[in-house]
Amino acid sequence: MTTRYRVEYALKTHRRDQFIEWIKGLLAVPFVLYSQPHGIFEYPPSSPELGTSPPGSPNPILIKAREEAHRRYAEILHDVELMIDDHIAHQNDPDNPFPSKLKLLVPSIGPFFTRLPLEAAFKFQDRKRYISSRRFVSPSFNDVRLILNSAQLISVTSTTPGSTLQLATFDGDVTLYDDGQSLEPTSPVIPRLLDLLRKNIKIGIVTAAGYTSADRYYARLHGLLDSIATSVDLTPVQKRSVIIMGGEANYLFQFDPASEHLLSPVPRSEWLTAEMLLWDDRDITQLLDIAEAALADCIETLNLPAVLMRKDRAVGIIPSPPHIRIPRESLEETVLCVQKILELSSAGRSKKVPFCAFNGGNDVFVDIGDKSWGVTVCQRWFRDPETGRPIRGENTLHVGDQFLSAGANDFRARSVGTTAWIASPAETVELLDELGELMGKKMS
Ligand code: IMP
Ligand code: MG
Repeated sequence: MTTRYRVEYALKTHRRDQFIEWIKGLLAVPFVLYSQPHGIFEYPPSSPELGTSPPGSPNPILIKAREEAHRRYAEILHDVELMIDDHIAHQNDPDNPFPSKLKLLVPSIGPFFTRLPLEAAFKFQDRKRYISSRRFVSPSFNDVRLILNSAQLISVTSTTPGSTLQLATFDGDVTLYDDGQSLEPTSPVIPRLLDLLRKNIKIGIVTAAGYTSADRYYARLHGLLDSIATSVDLTPVQKRSVIIMGGEANYLFQFDPASEHLLSPVPRSEWLTAEMLLWDDRDITQLLDIAEAALADCIETLNLPAVLMRKDRAVGIIPSPPHIRIPRESLEETVLCVQKILELSSAGRSKKVPFCAFNGGNDVFVDIGDKSWGVTVCQRWFRDPETGRPIRGENTLHVGDQFLSAGANDFRARSVGTTAWIASPAETVELLDELGELMGKKMS
């Protein structure tokens, strides 16, 4: 049952993705006009134009309604697709001072790295989810999110010059494994990741989990690392095409079959970008001190069952005792509160050091840097094999679960590459199957 409370909660701006809500609104119109809820009451089904059908045969009223809804949904998504093309043309024309139509309609819209074939993606998802067949439930947030994911996959595997996937980056918790869990050897995601490597796609695991030593990452990712190590068909180069970017953008490890934990740490001097080299340790400490004080305040004010955890590049609150649930509202209040305090502080206003405050499901962390930096490091580490330059945004796909603007750490990756928004490890598996199928079609 959807309570009034839940409805209002979902309406809060930090819980909404404006672009998805806007598309949902557009699709709601044909849903209202063309879905035929009364069709199920008519038995035997009949209509003036279609006549009466014998019992047990498909209801012609419903078939017609479905076809009509499908046609209208597809048309709308085609029109949105054209609007995105126009937005891309605006974004590629520095001399045009005017915003695109899409920007006017959805002010929070950001840059697009590729076009999005939404009509084709809708047709694909409609075959899977029977969106047009529904008469009581309109196209939902999840329908639109999955259509956008499919469109992104079609685009990064299309035959248009320049649009081939070279780098796939993955968030950890909720994307590769359940929250707080590890990538076990039996996980169905592992063979799909190995398949990407076989297709010479580089893999970066860009996680907020920040550990300074390889054993901790091995503990979380051993299923994948062991499978790569024992694989007999991956070449040494393909095996070395896996890196872990931990703490958002703070610790880099490369797969290394000769290391005890199959990972060797890469010194910062080898991968920090020119901008990251400017992050001064004193500024980092100052920022984390402010964050720590703000988090301590929240523990007090909201009476949170939590304790502080300070690291060299992060500070957070974790549940205490460890298995107690912190209320979702308290987690979000804490994120928004700490984020505001940091933004308004002198350290935050100077913008010398970027940070990311987010709700990790049952904890809150403030990390130095964010996933836009983490994915950027992966793009520079692997480089485009043809040009030798960093892998471009249109050749990168980041898969994650946190994409709502405030307090969502995968959201930041959107500024440097294409993204797919999943809601569970099972959805990641489905997404990788879809990707594998599209890549297979392209190769054949
Ligand atoms: P992600 O989903 O892979 O980005 O991981 C996020 C989770 O990692 C958080 O919810 C925390 O539970 C955990 N974590 C462990 N260490 C850190 C840290 O230093 N910063 C942020 N999150 C951390
Ligand atoms: Mg996650």
